[in-house]
Amino acid sequence: MCGIVGRITHVPFDIHDILESLKRLEYRGYDSFGIATAEGDVFKATGYIDVHANEIPSRLTSVAISHTRWATHGKVTRENAHPHVSQDGTFFIVHNGIIENHAPLRKALQAAGHTFLSQTDSEVIVHYIEGRVSDGASIDEAIRAFMNEARGTFAALLIRRDDPHIYAFKRDSPLVLGILDDGYAVASDIYAFSDTTTKAVFFEDDEYAVISADSYAFFDARGAPIGKEIATVRWTEAATRDEAYDHFMIKEIHEQPAAARRLILSLENEQAPFMDQLVTLARTANRVLFVAAGTSYHASLIGVYLLNSIGVEAHTLIASEFHNYMLADEGTLVVAISQSGETMDVVKAVKHARSRGSKVASIVNVPYSTIQRLSDISIEILAGQEICVASTKTYTNQILVLARMAQLMGLETDLDAIPDQIEQTLSYAEPAVIAMAPELRDVRDIYVIGRGIAYPLSREVALKLKEISYIHAEGMMGGELKHGTIALIEDGTIVMSFIQNADHDTMSNIEEVEARGARVISISDNSEFSPDFLLPASVPGSFAITATIVGQLFSYYIAREKGLPIDKPRNLAKSVTVK
Ligand code: AGP
Repeated sequence: MCGIVGRITHVPFDIHDILESLKRLEYRGYDSFGIATAEGDVFKATGYIDVHANEIPSRLTSVAISHTRWATHGKVTRENAHPHVSQDGTFFIVHNGIIENHAPLRKALQAAGHTFLSQTDSEVIVHYIEGRVSDGASIDEAIRAFMNEARGTFAALLIRRDDPHIYAFKRDSPLVLGILDDGYAVASDIYAFSDTTTKAVFFEDDEYAVISADSYAFFDARGAPIGKEIATVRWTEAATRDEAYDHFMIKEIHEQPAAARRLILSLENEQAPFMDQLVTLARTANRVLFVAAGTSYHASLIGVYLLNSIGVEAHTLIASEFHNYMLADEGTLVVAISQSGETMDVVKAVKHARSRGSKVASIVNVPYSTIQRLSDISIEILAGQEICVASTKTYTNQILVLARMAQLMGLETDLDAIPDQIEQTLSYAEPAVIAMAPELRDVRDIYVIGRGIAYPLSREVALKLKEISYIHAEGMMGGELKHGTIALIEDGTIVMSFIQNADHDTMSNIEEVEARGARVISISDNSEFSPDFLLPASVPGSFAITATIVGQLFSYYIAREKGLPIDKPRNLAKSVTVK
């Protein structure tokens, strides 16, 4: 995880300007941050940038690097915040990724007299470079030696005191150069500089670049120069706060009808050729294997459900176990689903699938992301930037792409009806959820059950309750409850149940838990069941969206009751770029 931003210009800039760019990467991690300049100034703090930026004095510089952290190695302390400084105080590094062999590297460096000030894996990089340079190597040579010796993942920016260059190198973790009017920016992704330029150069694995205010040069790991294409990126407008909403989460929940309409239009028009290619790949493949993590995995389960319902063989697996449990081969179409397009587990699974000869398609929100660039064909979900760590509108749009794919392959559904259904659900369910939230604020456990298409959404709602409301929640197949979990049901236990259409089996499960004292909150599109929440009559696929929205609202309003940090929940990051 972690976000990194560097900037190098002719005309000096205030270091607070780079913090503004860094803030746009806080979704990658937000436990601490820091900045270093080529004049040798280093400022670090734990906590959010907004809260602590005023502790950092204004300072003009022409070369600076900065970092926002999601702790992997070492607690959240000022010492562990980046940038890290070399022993002699002349080199400064920021790093996103994990240096897997940091322990032996650290040991060797300590034996050579280096003293470490942090518990991070990242600090070895700066000591290593300093060590090589003091042994007579050039900085280029030192970087190449590091890339050769390091195991693991890295996107790193290095500066040296009084040296008018930024040195940037990467493997697996993303890195992109932005071409500014007056110099260059280099960052984890284009959001960091998308307000200032549309010209970008993407780093590939095992490349490094030497950047001055006038020019840049890319090299491979052996030091051979590489010609790089300059991409003109489409404007990726960063989301802004809207005074009408207290949090990005509720803003993004309310953006769902508009985001859905925008996507449906695009899938039927400008993205129609890509959808056709996706369908052709799916039709010619022996089977479709989805791969994803977290919320995107829950969306992929809906994809499996919809494709299987029309006789197309499809499976899915959580990305971190894909290589262990899925047989990708030349006859397989692997469809990676990822909001960020940067989730490391998904990147690894895609690389694994490619190495086995599979075709790869992707469904992403962030254009030019690593997963999109690794894919044979990519569909964009056009949800707009999602700031809250919790996925809401992006889940809805992922499902719409999958429903469109199934529709093109024979599913009878009416996608155009869905944005209106979302609107109706929001205006009907929100007041009721607000009224119920106070009585749920002190609940410790919630069991969420559903069958068929309601099973994946039960898992998604449980995930929302965990990450945003900090309530232990289990999303499960209704049929599985009686095989063990029902032992936990006692007087007052909350069971949220999702019942689509004529699902009498889930109704029976409700009877079973009520008989044991559970308090059931039922959500259905069928008035026959007299549910607590009666949703609009669904079309194939739509219940997965409308019913989940009720769960999104519950997680938001319960968290609000509890006064939790909704957009940036503890221990999480929006983009999980470590294994
Ligand atoms: C869910 O609300 C989280 N944001 C998380 O589970 C997320 O879906 C997961 O980390 C995958 O992210 P991706 O879609 O960017 O790959």
